[in-house]
Amino acid sequence: MEKFKVINRQHRDANIKAIFAYSVFFPVVEIVLALSIGLVVWWTSKEALHLQENQQGTVIAFILCLNLLFRPLRVLADKFNVLQMGIIASERVFKVLDNPEAAPPIATQTINPVRFKGKIEFENVKFSYLPDVPVLKGISFVAQPGETVALIGHTGSGKTSITGLLTRLYEFQEGDIRIDDKSVTSYSLDEIRSQVGVVLQDVFLFSGSILDNITLRNPSITLEKVEEASRMIGLHDFIMKLPGGYHYDVRERGVGLSMGQRQLLSFVRALLYNPSILILDEATSSIDSESEQLIQLAIDTLIKGRTSIVIAHRLSTIRKANRIMVLDKGVLVESGTHEQLMALNGHYARLFRMQFSTPQ
Ligand SMILES: Nc1ncnc2c1ncn2[C@@H]1O[C@H](COP(=O)(O)OP(=O)(O)OP(=O)(O)O)[C@@H](O)[C@H]1O
Ligand SMILES: [Mg+2]
Repeated sequence: MEKFKVINRQHRDANIKAIFAYSVFFPVVEIVLALSIGLVVWWTSKEALHLQENQQGTVIAFILCLNLLFRPLRVLADKFNVLQMGIIASERVFKVLDNPEAAPPIATQTINPVRFKGKIEFENVKFSYLPDVPVLKGISFVAQPGETVALIGHTGSGKTSITGLLTRLYEFQEGDIRIDDKSVTSYSLDEIRSQVGVVLQDVFLFSGSILDNITLRNPSITLEKVEEASRMIGLHDFIMKLPGGYHYDVRERGVGLSMGQRQLLSFVRALLYNPSILILDEATSSIDSESEQLIQLAIDTLIKGRTSIVIAHRLSTIRKANRIMVLDKGVLVESGTHEQLMALNGHYARLFRMQFSTPQ
C-alpha cells in the first residue's frame, strides 16, 4: 500500500508538471508570434510603405505566409508528444513478443502429431507457484481413455492448477505427468496444446464478430463447420436470432452476451478443434435453468469420446462422471463414484450437503 501510494504521488506530480509545461509553453509561443507579427505590421506601415507605394499586398501576403510556415511547426511539436507515447506503448508490446517460451520442449526429435488415445496419469505431482507455498502436495491419479473425471474441492484447493500443469502453462517441481504413458515434457507444447482442449472458468471474448471469436481467426475453419458445431452445442438458433447472425459484434469482453451464452460459445470453440483430451473448468456463477439445461446437453456432447477432466460445480455434471476426485488444500482426499463417496460420509458428503442441501 505504501509503495503504491509513493508511485501514485510521483505519477500525480509528474502529470501536474507536464500540464504546467504545456500550459506555459504554448501561450508563450503564441504571444511571441503575435508580437512579432505586430512589429512587422507596425514597422512596414510606418517606414516601408512611405518609401514605396503599392506594396500593401506584399506585406499582407508576407504575414499570411509566415503563419503558413509556423502552423506546421507547431503541429510537429505536438506530434512529437504523440510519437513519444507510441514508442513507450510499442516497447511494452515488444517486451511481450520477445519473451522466450517459458518452457522449451525437452524433446529434440519431432513426434508426428498423432492423436492421443487420452490416458492421463499424475504420479506424485508436487507444485508451487511461489517457493515455500506448496499448492499441490503429491497428486496421483489415472484417467483411462474416454473417462470423465470430476474434480471438486473448495476454492483455492488447486483444481485449476492441476489443469494448468497438464497443458504445461506451468512446470511442476516433482513427480511426473504422463499422457499415453509418456511424460508431458517429452511432447512439444504445440502437440499438447493442439490435443488438449481447455474451456476456462471465465471465458474471454475479443471485440469482433461471433465467428471471429469461435474460430479465433483461424482461416482454415469454414463457416459451415462453425455452424455444424454450434448446432451440436445448441447455440445455432440463438446466434441466428442476433442481428447479423454469426457476424454480430460481441464487443470487448462479450458484454453483449450472457454468462451462459459465453460458456456455450467457448464450448463451440473447443468442439471445433476436436481435442482428444478435454479440460472443462465449469463457471461457478449461477445460470438460469433454461441455459443450465442447454449447458448440460452441450457438456454431454463435448465430453463424448474424449478423456475429460471436469472441474465441476453442478450436481448433474458430477453424477455423470466415471469418477469423482475431491481435492482439499492440494491433496486428493477422496475418489470414487457418487454413491461410494456418499457412503464414505467424508469430505464429499459434507461438500455435497453444503452445496446441494437447498431443494432445487
Ligand atoms: N498464478 C499464480 N501465482 C501464485 N499463486 C497462485 C496462482 N494461481 C493460483 N495460485 C494459488 O494457488 C492456489 C490454488 O489455486 P487454484 O486456482 O488452482 O484454485 P481452484 O481450486 O481452481 O479454486 P477455484 O474453485 O476458486 O477456481 C490458491 O491458493 C491460489 O492463491
Ligand atoms: Mg479454479
